[in-house]
Amino acid sequence: MPNFPNPFQGNVDRKMSKAELIQALRIDIAGELEAIFLYDAHVLATDDPVAKKVLADIRDEEKAHVGELMSLLRYLDPNEAEHFASGEGEVKEMLEELGITEPNISGSSVGSLLE
Ligand SMILES: [Fe+2]
Repeated sequence: MPNFPNPFQGNVDRKMSKAELIQALRIDIAGELEAIFLYDAHVLATDDPVAKKVLADIRDEEKAHVGELMSLLRYLDPNEAEHFASGEGEVKEMLEELGITEPNISGSSVGSLLE
């Protein structure tokens, strides 16, 4: 949710270290996920076809932002990327156990899983 009363809240008075940038990206990703949730809630809460179309389009752009940020996070923190891949592998195994042949999920992001 917006937090406008403090216009300096997001400012950092120096360049961030790589570790701090990675932490900041996690906050950015959380913000994108929250935006997706809110836009989707508004799409579901209206019958106005134009509002539905515009809000759904914005929601989907936020999903793309999640993908961009996740890719950036993988680039900056290959170790974390290995954890993501491990989790994806676990789900693939579960799908195989259930006899489900799903599209390739490797390289997927949280955003693409939300669709
Ligand atoms: Fe966004």
